[in-house]
Amino acid sequence: MRTLIRGGEIITATDRYEADVLVDGEIVATIGRDLQAEADRTLDAKGMYVLPGGIDVHTHFDLPFGGTRSSDDFETGTIAALHGGTTTIVDFAVQDMGAPLQRAYEAWREKAEGKTAVDYGLHMIVRDMPEVRLADMDEMIREGVTSFKLFMAYPGVFMVDDATIFRALRRTADNGGVICMHAENGGVIDELVKKALAEGNTAPVYHALTRPPEAEGEATGRAIALSEMAGVPIYIVHLSAAHALAKVKEARDRGVPAYAETCPQYLFLSEDNYREPGFAGAQYVMSPPLRPKWHQDELWKGLAGDDLQVISTDHCPFCMKEGFAGLPKQKELGMGDFSKIPNGAPGVETRLSLVYDGGVRGGRISVNRFVQLVSTAPAKLFGLFPRKGTVAVGSDADLVLFDPNREWTMSAKSLHMRVDYNPYEGRTGKGTVTTVLSRGEVVIENGKFLGRAGRGRFLKRATRSFA
Ligand code: URP
Ligand code: ZN
Ligand code: ZN
Repeated sequence: MRTLIRGGEIITATDRYEADVLVDGEIVATIGRDLQAEADRTLDAKGMYVLPGGIDVHTHFDLPFGGTRSSDDFETGTIAALHGGTTTIVDFAVQDMGAPLQRAYEAWREKAEGKTAVDYGLHMIVRDMPEVRLADMDEMIREGVTSFKLFMAYPGVFMVDDATIFRALRRTADNGGVICMHAENGGVIDELVKKALAEGNTAPVYHALTRPPEAEGEATGRAIALSEMAGVPIYIVHLSAAHALAKVKEARDRGVPAYAETCPQYLFLSEDNYREPGFAGAQYVMSPPLRPKWHQDELWKGLAGDDLQVISTDHCPFCMKEGFAGLPKQKELGMGDFSKIPNGAPGVETRLSLVYDGGVRGGRISVNRFVQLVSTAPAKLFGLFPRKGTVAVGSDADLVLFDPNREWTMSAKSLHMRVDYNPYEGRTGKGTVTTVLSRGEVVIENGKFLGRAGRGRFLKRATRSFA
């Protein structure tokens, strides 16, 4: 099957030019002006950008967490991803305490196979890592799971101590893996949570007030220091606070290979959202929490200046109301106790439109930087480039036709994520996805899903190629 995309404006992380794209099978075959090529199908891209498919390196589909399970599985979540122009995701398998990593890898492959509509990779969440298990990390690298998430928060659930972090970091120095760090000081937060609850402060806003930005700044600084001692790069996930960004920036200015991602929620929402009436603030309970509005400006500056390299979503939805799509009680588990509200929010479908509108149209980043942040840099940092993350001859034909002028209004009703609310409900903007190709096949056309659950392939990712 050959598809000719005619007359669009190709945008990569570095280039911007009008050209046709000929897709042959799963691959971009030719790029050029006024291509004279035989094709089975022609797509008119006049007035559209042709972007590389979005790459979201932080999703949680079907994640057992917070006494429930995230409401999107690999089928609903990846179909929603495609609607939003994301053609590759990297999700997180979770090691059972004391169990081999291989078992978690197999369990997550099983969850995903036959369901995933996009190509996907896996990171591994490490919950314990004694000396005797370190070889498991090498085994994961051989399977193409080349990154490991560690938590400095959630004591008793995910949190690991500094010795464990250091052991894992040192191993990645040798095996080429990447440690992705959830950087919040879990011990301090636990004390603050206990105090708030003892004082009768149970409302959702206390989620934010008990997880201060200083706790994120401290942990980020410590994580970077540990990585320096281990002599290996580090990647900080879902960075939300200026305090944490300052630590990354300070390290980078010294030439230390520290990398970080932020997420749309930290760019567009703020601590004020937790003060919405009644229990509505629970919609925004995630960790790290939303911050006072002034942090947003700092994050945008970080994105523009390359102190932040990636925008992912940390998509981890939980419904507000019991019974939606037959799902059990989720956010309501924390009615009367904010610490029991499952942590996480939806976002896999809305990333490109939000970041384009707020970032490019808002004058904060160039359109090339936009592509870099949502596709090219994640591909490079997580071992997928140049197969993914650019529009180039020989790359997978994961392509998005993006209409920069089309207006949108966000609403849970018209979005496809399996969750009964949207954190951006009613927000308007311009710039949205019209058509999506995944390895050469049109899977979204004018808002209609034409793909197939199970079509997505597992991606064995390469080891670290940065710094
Ligand atoms: O609140 C969040 N972020 N939930 C998902 C788990 C994590 O820490 O990424
Ligand atoms: Zn996290
Ligand atoms: Zn996450």
